Amino acid sequence: MANMALIDWNDSLKLGIAVVDRQHERLVGIINRLHEATLEGRGTDVIGEIIDELIIYTATHFSMEEKYFAQFEYPDAEEHKREHDALIEKVSIFARDFEKALRSSRPAQAAELLQFLQIWWRYHMMETDSKFVDLFKKRGLT
Ligand SMILES: [Fe+2]
Repeated sequence: MANMALIDWNDSLKLGIAVVDRQHERLVGIINRLHEATLEGRGTDVIGEIIDELIIYTATHFSMEEKYFAQFEYPDAEEHKREHDALIEKVSIFARDFEKALRSSRPAQAAELLQFLQIWWRYHMMETDSKFVDLFKKRGLT
């Protein structure tokens, strides 16, 4: 089934720091798989597995960024971490609501939740993450 990706991974989303871009690309991939599985009407077992992967990998990715914030003494670390923490909290609520929406066959609600992820990640990568790029590069991360 050739679906349009929910988030099109392209150069405009790249920050130019390989380790960050690689992880962002993988996150976008997981979100796109979740979108596809929803469109294909997959069961809650399949969807649940993708959501678990999303939760785990989101946490992995945020700790990587935050490790560099500490190492490079990033001045906006606290504010940035607040965004991360808010998403972690939101994603666990999201996971619960999403499975409920699927079980009660409310695809519109599932679509709304996916839309939230799409908007959050696009904004986070292009606005919030883009602010640490200069410092990371200056400290030798390419
Ligand atoms: Fe971030």
